[in-house]
Amino acid sequence: MPIYLDYHATTPVDPRVFASMAPYFMEVFGNPASSSHRFGLQARAAVEQARQRIAAALNASTPREIVFTSGSTESNNLAIKGVVRRCGTRGRHVITAVSEHKCVLNACKSLREDGFDVTVLPVEADGSLPVEAVAAALRPDTVLVSLMHANNEIGVIHDIAAIGALCRAQGVLLHTDATQSFGKVPVDVQAMQVDLLSMSAHKMYGPKGIGALYVRTPCTLVPQLDGGGHEGGLRSGTLNVPGIVGLADAVVLACADLEVDRRTQRALRDRLWLALRDAYPGILLNGPDPLTAPERRLPNNLNVSVPGAAGDALLAALGDDICVSTSSACTSASGEASHVLTAIGRAEGHTNLRISVGRPTTDAEIDQVVACIGRAAVRA
Ligand SMILES: Cc1ncc(COP(=O)(O)O)c(C=O)c1O
Repeated sequence: MPIYLDYHATTPVDPRVFASMAPYFMEVFGNPASSSHRFGLQARAAVEQARQRIAAALNASTPREIVFTSGSTESNNLAIKGVVRRCGTRGRHVITAVSEHKCVLNACKSLREDGFDVTVLPVEADGSLPVEAVAAALRPDTVLVSLMHANNEIGVIHDIAAIGALCRAQGVLLHTDATQSFGKVPVDVQAMQVDLLSMSAHKMYGPKGIGALYVRTPCTLVPQLDGGGHEGGLRSGTLNVPGIVGLADAVVLACADLEVDRRTQRALRDRLWLALRDAYPGILLNGPDPLTAPERRLPNNLNVSVPGAAGDALLAALGDDICVSTSSACTSASGEASHVLTAIGRAEGHTNLRISVGRPTTDAEIDQVVACIGRAAVRA
């Protein structure tokens, strides 16, 4: 069996999540919008229970603050375009950062084409973003700051609570993309003082094609889809009931298992880093140091650049049997250099590997990868 070490790209569905979704395909198959009969009412009850569980996990004030979407690409688009278009008369300035996911950057690009003003902040060499840089970029006409909680390539965790306090004090809305952080580090919308937060089930052992957007009351959005006005008018379209049930289950399990997962995955990741560091003296670490600053990096993330021929040899040795990413999955599909590594000056002349461990990763798998790294380094 190949060894999968690309859990940032996606995760397998947890069997417990799969089991809880199963009845909603063929037994409880009603449309939650069908309020005139029991099929619809049963489906509606499942959706509302899921909404309550997710709201509780995020520490939202009310389940009404959770809007179901098709995943984080949609949540991010709805949050950014929805808020900015709603606030258009109050101000037309948005702040984001160069290392955001493409769906955030492209949503901002689209706003810019519509005449809004977007500041794209640079990041430090380790991908971090000082709160002072956000403070310096705020203007009287700033309506939204959109910054990810944790980066999907280099794992750096932004201090969203500090940025949240700053934005709240200035009366500016804050959106955070928590796609990669949810289930790996604590996420609490009150403690972080965020107004909007995106999440996606397939990054936390739930199904693909379902996600949610937290929208703090009384924040309002312009919907991005015209339709029948589902989800409090914010997101039209028949609800994906099995997906919603699966998302809620994945969320609850992620919170329950967080501390154990964090400790286990960090230990596996650190073993890989030590093996790579010992094997390749010229190796460059992308993102904060996992050993000296573990609190600033996702516990399951490693991203390295191996220079020259050694990097090529390592990639060849990993072969088809050890599945890692040479950049983010979305960027791989477009065949471009990673914009995140470019932003920190690491894209050129190296073999860049993003290695992410997950709940199913075993010690035996890491043993095999460590052995493979050792053999490749001797050959190089
Ligand atoms: C940080 C981040 N934001 C957004 C997305 C998009 O999420 P989805 O696949 O649910 O649309 C991803 C997926 O790679 C991601 O890593």
